[in-house]
Amino acid sequence: MAEEFLRIEKLVKAFGANQVVKSVDLSFNKGEFISLLGPSGCGKTTILRMIAGFERPTSGNIFVDGREITNLTPNRRNIGMVFQAYALFPNMTVFDNVAFGLKVAGKPKAEIAPRVAEMLKLIHLEQLADRYPYQMSGGQQQRVALARALAPSPRMLLLDEPLSALDAKIRVSLREQIREIQQNLGITTVFVTHDQEEALSISDRIVVMNAGRADQVGTPSDIYNRPATRFVASFVGTLNIIDATVVDPAANTIRIGDGVITLREPIGALKGGDKVSVALRPEAGSLSESATGDTALTGTVVSSHFLGSVVRTKFDVGGNQISFDMFNAPDKVLPQPGETVTLRFAAGDLLLIKD
Ligand SMILES: Nc1ncnc2c1ncn2[C@@H]1O[C@H](COP(=O)(O)OP(=O)(O)OP(=O)(O)O)[C@@H](O)[C@H]1O
Ligand SMILES: [Mg+2]
Repeated sequence: MAEEFLRIEKLVKAFGANQVVKSVDLSFNKGEFISLLGPSGCGKTTILRMIAGFERPTSGNIFVDGREITNLTPNRRNIGMVFQAYALFPNMTVFDNVAFGLKVAGKPKAEIAPRVAEMLKLIHLEQLADRYPYQMSGGQQQRVALARALAPSPRMLLLDEPLSALDAKIRVSLREQIREIQQNLGITTVFVTHDQEEALSISDRIVVMNAGRADQVGTPSDIYNRPATRFVASFVGTLNIIDATVVDPAANTIRIGDGVITLREPIGALKGGDKVSVALRPEAGSLSESATGDTALTGTVVSSHFLGSVVRTKFDVGGNQISFDMFNAPDKVLPQPGETVTLRFAAGDLLLIKD
């Protein structure tokens, strides 16, 4: 069994009457890379700040490595943190920025220089030790911020949207570097982001946050393929959420528009005529000439957009607008508005949304 490293129990934070973290329970393993994913204002930074000790919980407890740290001051937690906005000391060189935590900890000079050199090597900025923050790009500054956080050998690393101020290409390259460094060091890491692709691509597990609660905790594949709630389904990926009516619960059949479809998962306690929602990934289906079998939907094309590697087509089935993606090919003919199309998919691709 994996070893638990960070445990959060019934964590609550209220600012005045406004409860922004609502009894969150989480348990992370040693060496895990965890993302807190959720929209703006859902409480991600507040949770991170409570773990770091910058914010005191209204109630609840935080444990690291079996010891309670809920009321320890930040400097006694041995946790490294990188913030969203570049938070380097502007009047200090790269070297002095990275050395800062080591100096505060009272390390001897003879130990500091080689440790800083090692950290600069880790982030591939050995040549920039004498630069000041204003002489570097945003991506370079964030790498220095990472080196500064890691220099004192923290037992845990907290990253609050460290990539959000960077342009798309640098963001992808830097997130891969962060993941690689994290894996090499084996350091337990909590990474905050509102970018689902970022979370899916680098995490061992993801916590999807919704208005102060953790809606789902799971591997990227769990979160993407088996969303536990409507919120997770709609936040992660560009999922279609389709209104349907139960036809025969014993046979797991539902009606969408004029089509009757058999679900793979049991419908449960619903009765004929009940309304349900089902989710369908845009990449799940493919166009078909005829509506054979019971896992096809036929409708009228509303729009078709060329997005580069994919073509996204929206079509209408009984008032539901359903998007689906096809890979691009040089000779691809885009479906035209008004055209009738049939989308075929596997029965297991339709997920029942339970709330
Ligand atoms: N010091 C504070 N005083 C009062 N309200 C606060 C304080 N800090 C945060 N909040 C509120 O708590 C809620 C959660 O804020 P938080 O910064 O944790 O969100 P977030 O998920 O990190 O959002 P974002 O993605 O925009 O950074 C917000 O409604 C915010 O306005
Ligand atoms: Mg935040």
